[in-house]
Amino acid sequence: MVSPVSTNLYTYELLPIFDVPALQLIIDEAIGAGCDHIVLVSSRQKPGLEAYIAPSPDVVAKLRDQGRNDVADRLARIGSDVRVSVTYQDNPKGLGHAVGCARELVGNEPFAVLLPDELRGDSGLLRLLIDSCEETGKSAIELKRVPMDQVSAYGVVTVTEGSPADGPFGICGVVEKPKSEDAPSDLIILGRYVLTPDIFVDIDALQPHANGEYQLTDALLAQGLRGELLGHLTTTKRWDTGTPTGWLEAVLDAAASQPHVNHMMTEWFKKNLS
Ligand code: G1P
Repeated sequence: MVSPVSTNLYTYELLPIFDVPALQLIIDEAIGAGCDHIVLVSSRQKPGLEAYIAPSPDVVAKLRDQGRNDVADRLARIGSDVRVSVTYQDNPKGLGHAVGCARELVGNEPFAVLLPDELRGDSGLLRLLIDSCEETGKSAIELKRVPMDQVSAYGVVTVTEGSPADGPFGICGVVEKPKSEDAPSDLIILGRYVLTPDIFVDIDALQPHANGEYQLTDALLAQGLRGELLGHLTTTKRWDTGTPTGWLEAVLDAAASQPHVNHMMTEWFKKNLS
């Protein structure tokens, strides 16, 4: 039997989501939300990421020759409209450690964290989190309600008593990947965060988990205990490209949104699937 493999074994950030690499969609989302500096926390085993963000006038010109001006414009913004830097996390020591690797490049200001194996259709959610952080001075994360049998793959929060029913919630507890029977709620953390820079002090204080990883969740807990963390309930469409089926769904949705391809797909499905 062949088990499906995680797309994370590859430089999945460069896998095309129909006709645009996932990384470009993440960059577009950040730019659309108003970010002017993007830091990629990468690994030296993924040189393709650095190559992608290097100025590439020849690729831009080829895209224009092919009539793909929209993609060409988006690629050309890298390094001109937006600064994109790379820093390395050579040992995969967890999300908390990865965020800590960006500290010098981020500096002493609020910043967004976008997990690139989660795609969103637009910048709306990220902008909402940025607005929340600007208005309140607190970190802001997105939350989703899921059935209890799904919580164990995520960070799960405890909401402050007296929070409005639909949020934003004060968050006073966070636990990473609890068993469903131990989970404090059905509210999971997803892959968009806007964090105040004091989180770096909390990251410095992190202790590794049994698997050697330093979890961002524990730093969020420290902020939550200080009353500095808000959670926003979202129902935004999300594609999990870290799994083969999630990646396929993202590709199919992107393709189906283009009328000429939609027709071709309909014919293909009629012929091959029933
Ligand atoms: C990470 C976080 C987790 C969060 C999840 C969202 O986990 O550690 O708290 O709920 O992203 O996708 P990962 O999926 O990297 O294991």
